[in-house]
Amino acid sequence: MVAFPTETVYGLGANALDPSAVRRIFAAKGRPADNPLIVHVADPEAIPPLVSDWPPAAQKLLQAFWPGPLSIIVPRSPLIPDQVTAGLDTVAIRMPSHPVAQAFIRACRLPIAAPSANLSGRPSPTTGIHVWNDLQGKIAAVVDGGPCQVGVESTVVDVTAPVPMILRPGGITREQLRAVLGEVDVDPVVVARAKYDQQFTPRSPGMKYKHYAPRAEVYLVEGPLEVVPKQILSLVGQYRQKHRSRAPIAVLASDETFSEYASAAATVRPDVLISLGSRERLEEVAASLFSALRTCDQRQAKVVFSETFPEDGVGLAIMNRLCKAAAFRIIKA
Ligand code: TXA
Ligand code: MG
Repeated sequence: MVAFPTETVYGLGANALDPSAVRRIFAAKGRPADNPLIVHVADPEAIPPLVSDWPPAAQKLLQAFWPGPLSIIVPRSPLIPDQVTAGLDTVAIRMPSHPVAQAFIRACRLPIAAPSANLSGRPSPTTGIHVWNDLQGKIAAVVDGGPCQVGVESTVVDVTAPVPMILRPGGITREQLRAVLGEVDVDPVVVARAKYDQQFTPRSPGMKYKHYAPRAEVYLVEGPLEVVPKQILSLVGQYRQKHRSRAPIAVLASDETFSEYASAAATVRPDVLISLGSRERLEEVAASLFSALRTCDQRQAKVVFSETFPEDGVGLAIMNRLCKAAAFRIIKA
């Protein structure tokens, strides 16, 4: 069981064909057994033994986006152990583009089952140190390939339905998928603005868990950009007065708004101030998001106020992760 870098986040890899190896992944992460794993391959030639069908939509996606941050859900073959798919009759297959991930899978000469290499419930790791902080003593090694470029996990697309459906937004955008496949649905839980209830069951089991959460309470503040920083600064002030504690308060800002917080009066200025990047370049925001959430923990923030971002392109994945980190606590500015 070895952690390795991919272009999205670090994965915790083991032999996908060995049930006992796969069980150890679940144990190391503290992951619920009903949440299936993605099987990683280095070459399309590795796919046929793993699947019982490879629909035309899967082939189109392979040609357009592999290697890259896209996981494709197809009917599985009997070779895939139940532990990998949590008993489902489908399996998620992904061919990562990161050269170290490719070299690792090739060297193993096996399909590699790999969830994100974080403790279950923690933000996904985007550096080797993040993995080490969560899993040292529980895994054999971390292959350190530096920081991950994409920073949010792969897009998960189910092509077993008549209309392909995005179960998890990620590195490949909804717009990119539609350009290749035409019609593409989005699982309602992906864009949900409230906690899903019993009638609203996500089709990707992983999406039902509170994920990506730092230890602090996270609040999203949504509204016109002219008023959001003012609202956040006033929330910082209110929180400080109410709690009369020196507990650190963090703000996740953007390059466009950073100076408003940095130059605010000391009574409302956040203790921890991080810019996630420019609103003009959401890729930057995606790449820094999980690391920023971990920094909030390291600085022992008790509460985090975050700006929100447009849901275009990779923004859909950013907002999905932020909403989950905030457990859907959203304040309208
Ligand atoms: O970018 C990524 O996908 C990273 C890197 C390491 O490749 N991996 C990753 O794995 O994020 P994990 O286990 O953290 O997330 C896998 C997601 C979960 O939400 C899981 O429920 C979903 O994929 N999934 C896996 N197999 C599935 C299946 N057969 N049907 C529906 N959802 C599935
Ligand atoms: Mg994960």
